[in-house]
Amino acid sequence: MKRVTLVDVFKHRITQKYLQRSGIHHAVTVSGYAFDMALKAGVDPDLATKSALLHDMGHYEWYRDGKWDYEEYRKHDIHAIKGAERAHKLLIRLGEDRLVAKEVSLAVLLHTDSYLPFDLDDKRTKLQDVVAKADEKDEQPLGMHHYKNMDKSEAIQRLNKLDLKIEEFYDGQAG
Ligand SMILES: [Fe+2]
Repeated sequence: MKRVTLVDVFKHRITQKYLQRSGIHHAVTVSGYAFDMALKAGVDPDLATKSALLHDMGHYEWYRDGKWDYEEYRKHDIHAIKGAERAHKLLIRLGEDRLVAKEVSLAVLLHTDSYLPFDLDDKRTKLQDVVAKADEKDEQPLGMHHYKNMDKSEAIQRLNKLDLKIEEFYDGQAG
């Protein structure tokens, strides 16, 4: 089966719709971090980068009266739950392997514990841990990492490079 690439995932209209809210810059940057961390942790880089790219696609309603309201947002936030569902639906539509879609969806669900009544310290799988740490690495106070700009063509270029590195990794394993 042909691999569903990061560029395939990125270009899909569902991704385009939902990534605008949490920021393309953040999604692509976290994917890059996740690739490096996955190799170090012995985690599949395809799963790690896909999860990282989609981890914040559940974000919604960031504004009140035209203004960013971080406190309100935090109080009602269930973005990880929405994101897990959206990521799963998207990957299945793209023809992704169902087990991959499930792993990615779970990594999106558990990339943060800020919405849960308990913490996830030491409970995450290696993949889930890589995605959570890659996200943390790009975080800035008050969610400012969601407001950095990156245009679509640069995002595609960067993701294409990651796709090539992932394919190289698989080729290396097969050989
Ligand atoms: Fe994030």
